[in-house]
Amino acid sequence: MAVLRTQGLTKRFGGLVALSEVSMEVSKGEILGIIGPNGAGKTTLINAVAGLYMPDEGQIFLGDRDITYARPHIRAKMGIARTFQLMQPLVDLSAQENIMVGALFGQPQSLRDARRTAFEIGEILQFDAMDRSIANLTALDIKKLELGRALATRPTVLFLDEVMAGLNQDETKAMISVVRGIQGQGLALCVVEHVMSVIGELTDRVIVLNTGMLIAEGPYAEVSADPQVITAYLGKEE
Ligand SMILES: Nc1ncnc2c1ncn2[C@@H]1O[C@H](COP(=O)(O)OP(=O)(O)OP(=O)(O)O)[C@@H](O)[C@H]1O
Ligand SMILES: [Mg+2]
Repeated sequence: MAVLRTQGLTKRFGGLVALSEVSMEVSKGEILGIIGPNGAGKTTLINAVAGLYMPDEGQIFLGDRDITYARPHIRAKMGIARTFQLMQPLVDLSAQENIMVGALFGQPQSLRDARRTAFEIGEILQFDAMDRSIANLTALDIKKLELGRALATRPTVLFLDEVMAGLNQDETKAMISVVRGIQGQGLALCVVEHVMSVIGELTDRVIVLNTGMLIAEGPYAEVSADPQVITAYLGKEE
């Protein structure tokens, strides 16, 4: 059964339809890729599901609960987490403290428990920079930290918004292995990514957005051969 489902989700910004009747779902243990050219609506879909934007039409279900009108922090507590495309770690805190903030946001707990959560998540992420200040982190560390902060809320559904962007080949490989490690935790994972080799390697299934519309769905190998999908991408390059 789907952990998360949207039904006819529509979001407009003035005259611009950023999401147009998008119906999608993701299941426990699945890695769903969300792809599409720049401006397709990928981040808007995440923002709508996380509650940052109220949809104009449609519904969002977490399990069998309708969460369309739930506020963002309530959705976070219910198990929806996401990373931000533009990461903004708390620079005055250490890496570990940043992850602890995620843990404390997810559910009230003692500092000691939050520290333990941060430690456990550090293990999953193969993160060895816990005590460092944010200024001394590598690009890969910053990405892991953003993931760790989201993961510390103990989500059932996790959206990753371009966590591979800006990483070199070795770092990307490391990140793929980290995401696989997270999948082992039994989450439903939704991965937004422009690097198609990553999508091909990592995902069980993809959905393709173009100008707010869901235009294709299926295994990446099939979808990437779909003429409509190829046109959507090529159209943007011209
Ligand atoms: N807060 C906003 N106000 C007005 N327009 C917005 C807002 N957020 C997004 N948009 C517009 O909605 C459309 C979809 O944007 P979105 O950020 O979801 O695209 P995306 O698929 O994430 O693109 P990218 O791959 O570049 O990150 C774009 O045309 C964008 O300019
Ligand atoms: Mg985006």
